[in-house]
Amino acid sequence: MKLLSGTASQGLATAIADVLDMPLTDVNIERFRDQEIFVRINENVRGEDIFLIQSTSAPANDHLMELLIIMDALLRASAARITAVIPYFGYSRQDRKVGGRTPISAKLVANLISRAGADRVLTLDLHAGQIQGFFDIPTDNLFGQPVFEADIRSEYSRKELKDILFVSPDTGGVVRARALAKKFEADIAIIDKRRPKAGESEVMNIIGDVSGRSCIILDDIIDSGGTLCKAAAALVKHGAKDVSAYITHGVLSDPAVANITKSELKEVVITDTITQPEKVKNCSKVREVTVSKLIGEAIRRIANAESVSKLFD
Ligand code: R5P
Repeated sequence: MKLLSGTASQGLATAIADVLDMPLTDVNIERFRDQEIFVRINENVRGEDIFLIQSTSAPANDHLMELLIIMDALLRASAARITAVIPYFGYSRQDRKVGGRTPISAKLVANLISRAGADRVLTLDLHAGQIQGFFDIPTDNLFGQPVFEADIRSEYSRKELKDILFVSPDTGGVVRARALAKKFEADIAIIDKRRPKAGESEVMNIIGDVSGRSCIILDDIIDSGGTLCKAAAALVKHGAKDVSAYITHGVLSDPAVANITKSELKEVVITDTITQPEKVKNCSKVREVTVSKLIGEAIRRIANAESVSKLFD
């Protein structure tokens, strides 16, 4: 097998390579003057089982195109099997028609990835689990939950754990909140969120008693931070002792860092599925945990044709 990385995920890919104790394949990814992408793989990949790591994070279109072009190069170099390892699957929020004459971009992107040569996909916390069905090739959707569970156990004292309460910031995230709450035998609360228009969120109600509790909000994505910061403010208003968040994908578009900094949030924990700029790394309220072991172990199991279901426990 061989591991390859696109430019979107070099930090995470290097960490995964360390976990698997193997090098990243040498590949040149360059730009022509007009910004077209050119790829050259500098090692023989004929007959190899390839794991290509690339999040389709911002700039999503460039990173997606790069993923497709690397796969094309691999296919034409006679790689035996290509697994597209997409830690963050961009366009996933466009998973249904939101009105007349609108696209289902997540399905289009899934088609592009399969058509470009992927034999299978490995990803993490898809925005909606059913996006797996957009691919007609085997797709493993890992959960970040075990990484968050381990972090919470190491960060919170036994006494603090007695007060925690998991919060879903919308009805779509209830299953995720309930699953982690079960691990800690904790309660959950649900926020009744509405989106008056795209990119804006409003908290209507909180379902559950949050007073005196240390609330942990769970979500798959933080983008502008609007959902999270408004949820935190509402929880504090309803008597929460403090509010933190565990979010798998730190999309963090502007003005997310400013929003988090001035919010009621004590801490926002994200994973390294998306490479962060300095301003995020320098934000004292944001902390990153790595999913390299989780993804590395999944790659090892896929390469050895072992079951990956253990990783979902
Ligand atoms: C929505 O369903 C997602 O799970 C996130 O809650 C949403 O994408 C976060 O966006 P923002 O941070 O811009 O409110």
